[in-house]
Amino acid sequence: MQSRETTLRELCSRHEQDHVFTFWDRLTPDQRDMLLSDLERVRFEEMPALLRIVAAGTEHPHYDRIEPPVCVRRPVDTRGDERTALGESLLSRSAVAALLVAGGQGTRLGFDGPKGAFRISPVRQKPLFQLFAEQILATDRRYGGRTRWYIMTSEANDAETRAFFEQHRRFGLPLDQISFFKQGSMPAFSLDGRMILESPHRLALSPDGHGGSLLAMATTGVLADMAGRGIEHVGYFQVDNPLVRCLDPFFIGLHAERGSEMSSKTVPKASDDEKVGVFAICDGVLRVLEYSDLPNELAKARQPDGSRRFDAGSIAVHILARTFVERLTADPAAFRLPWHRAVKKVSSVDLRTGQMVQPNAPNAVKLEAFVFDALPLAKNPVILETNRREEFSPVKNATGVDSVETSQRALSDRAARWLESAGVRVPRTAAGEYSGRYEISPLRAMEAAHLREGPPLPREVRGDVYVDAT
Ligand code: UTP
Repeated sequence: MQSRETTLRELCSRHEQDHVFTFWDRLTPDQRDMLLSDLERVRFEEMPALLRIVAAGTEHPHYDRIEPPVCVRRPVDTRGDERTALGESLLSRSAVAALLVAGGQGTRLGFDGPKGAFRISPVRQKPLFQLFAEQILATDRRYGGRTRWYIMTSEANDAETRAFFEQHRRFGLPLDQISFFKQGSMPAFSLDGRMILESPHRLALSPDGHGGSLLAMATTGVLADMAGRGIEHVGYFQVDNPLVRCLDPFFIGLHAERGSEMSSKTVPKASDDEKVGVFAICDGVLRVLEYSDLPNELAKARQPDGSRRFDAGSIAVHILARTFVERLTADPAAFRLPWHRAVKKVSSVDLRTGQMVQPNAPNAVKLEAFVFDALPLAKNPVILETNRREEFSPVKNATGVDSVETSQRALSDRAARWLESAGVRVPRTAAGEYSGRYEISPLRAMEAAHLREGPPLPREVRGDVYVDAT
């Protein structure tokens, strides 16, 4: 049998990547092992296709016909709706799992640690992970199920993420209710198609995008685990949206009633040029078009009543049928979603000197798969239009648009609205904005109606207000 080294050298040579062995003679046995392990994670069988994408520059897909999709609008009050009842019964049977993708690098936020450890809630400063954990606990208390939570991490943040959960005793969730699994990684390429070394014995690897979740579910045994537990549907959400309703009975029921393989939530776009993907029917197939792929005249187009024609922004909340992911990944070697190409700055080693080089301009191509590219492959997809102020305010940046400040404000304003709807007087400034900060534990309410149940509320509040579970 060939040694690991020989096999990998041959693969590298076949794909013109021999430079990764430049420093081999000076590496220690441990360092050699690390380099070989990195190379074992590279999908060499895909290399010719990857190199074509690296070389091609960004390609914008062409469609002859692009039309707006049909969306179901969420009723203001979903209680008493038969779809809500169906979702609740699936939750009570523990037939729905929560899937959080938290493998990203969070470079824009610039927080030192897994993004989910970032303390976001406006009064108690709860980390993002805690807000989701409390929703899962609250869902189980309300419907009587035991919802399994799968958390996707990546090589870079897996250990820290697990340690963070342990340190906080999993925010009250039992040990056996959470499973972590790691996504795959992709090498970064130089603009001329060579894998970048981040040190003499390490490839510059980064997570393969949130779309990597589908393949990772197959290869790490998550799908088999789900099947063994009778889980039929998977509620997918991302770590950066503290307003997300991760297990929404109405959405789950709608998805199940329609026999949908993949359902998605949408909110109307905030402006023509908001940087979100939009749902569109492209040459007869429903998909999410990246904002850079929606032609400008369509982004600005209006309906006869003046409303925006392409208004269905994607908020990265989906439900996937387990059998859909199984079908897609039945042959894991044959499954892949399209790669999206981004040119970024990646520090690297100078192959002549072995010195680290910090680029001052983007020097590398990173490739990522996006989960919404599974939508065109799904049967009976459904899109549910919901309310942005209730369900979407992502933390992408430290300041400015989609930042810590805007997201905290959205959480606080939502809590204030819920309090008002329960008859509590909430003070406002002369300009009509809420004054003070408000926070409601998910264990007390996951929507306004829940607040009207349970212990009585004060008639009036002011200052920083936290409404606890009891
Ligand atoms: P983003 O697209 O915002 O990327 O991820 P990011 O890596 O977190 O942040 P930036 O771009 O470096 O600032 C959206 C969601 O997808 C997850 C993230 O953790 C987040 O929940 N994600 C992204 C993954 O799980 N894996 C990836 O490879 C990329």
